[in-house]
Amino acid sequence: MQNNSRWHILENADQVAQAACRHILEAAQQAIAEQGQFRLVLAGGSTPEKVYRLLAQADADWPRWYIYYGDERCLPVADKDRNSFMATQSFLEKVAIPDANIFTIPAEQGPEKAAQRYQQTIADALPFDLVLLGMGEDGHTASLFPGHQHPDQELAHAVYNAPKPPPERVSLSAKALSSTGQLIFLITGTSKQEAVKNWRLGQDLPVAAIVPENPVDIYIDHAAYDS
Ligand code: 6PG
Repeated sequence: MQNNSRWHILENADQVAQAACRHILEAAQQAIAEQGQFRLVLAGGSTPEKVYRLLAQADADWPRWYIYYGDERCLPVADKDRNSFMATQSFLEKVAIPDANIFTIPAEQGPEKAAQRYQQTIADALPFDLVLLGMGEDGHTASLFPGHQHPDQELAHAVYNAPKPPPERVSLSAKALSSTGQLIFLITGTSKQEAVKNWRLGQDLPVAAIVPENPVDIYIDHAAYDS
């Protein structure tokens, strides 16, 4: 694992969310001041929801935010299990980010076609300003799962037989996720302890394949960190 990772070990999931929200807002201010826009990649799963709800209450220069997704589940557009459904309900529909600035993965079209289409979207966006990622109990991140092989040069992968339902997904590649000025991992809860321990021991997990030039910031609670 990168020795220049910055571990922010906090009391509980609420403190993790508050610290990550502050970090994201600061990164946005800096990016907008320097280049007039902020390109943010949202994480899926359930952990980020607390962060998104805090962002929805913040005051920011929303029209200059551009939103991408690290992965998406191949489900119908309005399916409540889509990552875009949670991000929209908890955050995006509550702030004035223009719809044209939100780049949802067309995962309802199936893994292959959606990955091809999103590949171009990502190519036009790189490098990101900040990437948000979670981590699964097996050390997966986005929809990059242990033991799955993908062409290194792809920016977006079609994912089949994912061990975490649904089986078909689209994921940004490690290469695309690493092409960012800043990267935050959000990790909470005792269920992540084993994967965190193995990551720290240097195990070759998907989370360890995300290696931006700059240090990554890992916001983690004691429940996930202490083992
Ligand atoms: C997904 C996510 C996935 C998630 C981790 C952690 O589609 O499920 O992209 O990578 O971030 O599995 O999920 P939790 O935050 O729910 O623990």
